[in-house]
Amino acid sequence: MIGVFDSGLGGLTGLYELKRLLPDADIVYFGDTGRVPYGSKSADTIIRYSLQDMAFLSTFGIDAALVACGTASSTALEELKKRYTIPIFGVIEPAAKEAAEKTRTGKVGVICTQTTKNSGSFERAVRRLDDKIDVLTVACPLFVHLVENGFSKAGDTVTREVARRYLSAFDGAGVDVLILGCTHYPIISWAIAEAMPGVELISSGRAAAKALADAVGGTQSGAGTVRFYVTDSPESFESSAGAFMGGDFAGHAEQIDISKY
Ligand code: DGL
Repeated sequence: MIGVFDSGLGGLTGLYELKRLLPDADIVYFGDTGRVPYGSKSADTIIRYSLQDMAFLSTFGIDAALVACGTASSTALEELKKRYTIPIFGVIEPAAKEAAEKTRTGKVGVICTQTTKNSGSFERAVRRLDDKIDVLTVACPLFVHLVENGFSKAGDTVTREVARRYLSAFDGAGVDVLILGCTHYPIISWAIAEAMPGVELISSGRAAAKALADAVGGTQSGAGTVRFYVTDSPESFESSAGAFMGGDFAGHAEQIDISKY
């Protein structure tokens, strides 16, 4: 059984890929929708939240975990790894690896939450692989709100304008690969691609799901069940989840009290 968590909907981009790669795996997904966003909170708070999220997932007897959140991966992964012996995958290293392999100009862009940018996690990971690569990071704090509030449909004029404003920071930088360092962002990749034509976009959630599947996929043959838990209204999660799951969302989410963990 694999446990996956995020601050809300974004981790579903990783879950979707995980389901595609490991259709027989049993998965439990936790979206901390009552406390989203993580990306504007301090590292200490995110570590505390992540430990609770993981403690909840552990009640299912998971034997692998995906921290499908750029912010939690940047701040809490080491702490989680210290406390748990199961394999735990974050989104930073896999996305950095893909970017380092794909860039031809030696200039990699990263867009992410403010807390992820402050941590410097992506720069460190890319430069550990190749210290000649330049990494330019831009925080895009409004993106998570646009996605969580349903402003993600292709062509949405608000999202298009916000993307254009944020991503103009890359004008003239020569970036040919852009890491979507927050797992919410692939849902508005149409707006990001429009603002950065010709630049290859890397979904950090997808890259991480692949890393997990490559490493522990062989041990995950179950019945292919997926259970969903949230900390705010299940209905609102259920109505938005389809956009992340490649169409309609047929599952049910259950609300839990995370303060017990
Ligand atoms: N999806 C998360 C991330 O990848 C967090 C977004 C947020 O809660 O701010 O950073």
